[in-house]
Amino acid sequence: MADLSLFDLTGKSALVTGAAVGIGRGCAVALARAGASVAVVDLNEAAGSRTVQEIRSMGRQAIFVHCDVTKRDQVQTMVRRVAEEFGRLDLAINNAGIAILGADEEIAQEAWDKVIAVNLTGVFLCAQAEAQQMTRQTPTDGKIINIASMSATIANCNASYDASKAGVVHMTKTLAAEWGRFNINVNCISPSYVLSSMHASTPLAVRQRIRELTPLGHVERTEDLHGAVIFLASAASNYVTGHDLMVDGGHTLNAWLTPLSRSVPPRVSPAEEVIGLKHDLDLLGFTYDSDGINPSVHPEIAGAFQAAFGKRT
Ligand SMILES: NC(=O)c1ccc[n+]([C@@H]2O[C@H](COP(=O)([O-])OP(=O)(O)OC[C@H]3O[C@@H](n4cnc5c(N)ncnc54)[C@H](O)[C@@H]3O)[C@@H](O)[C@H]2O)c1
Repeated sequence: MADLSLFDLTGKSALVTGAAVGIGRGCAVALARAGASVAVVDLNEAAGSRTVQEIRSMGRQAIFVHCDVTKRDQVQTMVRRVAEEFGRLDLAINNAGIAILGADEEIAQEAWDKVIAVNLTGVFLCAQAEAQQMTRQTPTDGKIINIASMSATIANCNASYDASKAGVVHMTKTLAAEWGRFNINVNCISPSYVLSSMHASTPLAVRQRIRELTPLGHVERTEDLHGAVIFLASAASNYVTGHDLMVDGGHTLNAWLTPLSRSVPPRVSPAEEVIGLKHDLDLLGFTYDSDGINPSVHPEIAGAFQAAFGKRT
């Protein structure tokens, strides 16, 4: 039998922000499966409470904590509440994030400010409160994982989103350099296009284009991040800090100078790609078609892609 104790999170106490649905929910479930107690931190109490039930049904402790990550007082209270409930804080995943699409030559300052507030300031406020808690504990030790994006590295979305994520990657390095002295590892994970509700309105033609531009050949699911999350949360990564772990199926390798081809089918079929997305849309109360698409979840994304790709095919 293989020795998997290096990846075991039994007895660890964790929090995940933006964990009601999507990537955050996937991280919370992955941590719980590996043995951790998990606080589901989000603005959406209805969906978050159902994620809590899902984790409890696995036999793990879970609580919902309402918190807007852009508000320092709420973040401080949230971290204290998690530590009180579970006895300490060992692991934190700072995942809550948003995108507001729009052409950068005309986007409103309010949109820029909001994206930076959630994606960059929110991650900092959470990391700061988490490190304060971890340094109050004996033994002092901890793992902080920030969810960045491939958009930190390639110009993929728009200026506010890409700049916020590039900020997360560099902030992660700075905090890792500063907090190594406390035995706190700070790393980030950069996904590519993940089929969360953020992409519920993305037309099918776009998914096909993503598959064609991705060496591993399928669109990313939240489950595709589980291995990276467990690695960075567990003792397996004790000597890894300040790292940006790209989990993108090879999308950012620029391998498409010549068109990619396939010799065997991808590991994940188009029908399997959308299982988690449909689960999230159920949690959020949206209807969807057989491909998990509902243009009204993000009409601005549906509109932008339709302008670029033509009508949904
Ligand atoms: N979906 C993708 O393609 C993709 C790719 C790369 C990176 N990411 C990043 O992953 C993270 C999660 O994205 P997702 O696709 O799962 O999004 P999502 O919209 O499905 O879920 C985001 C969650 O964060 C919560 N949230 C939003 N603002 C918040 C705030 N101020 N305080 C607390 N909670 C808040 C929402 O209620 C929601 O539950 C984000 O940081 C995003 O930028 C997403």
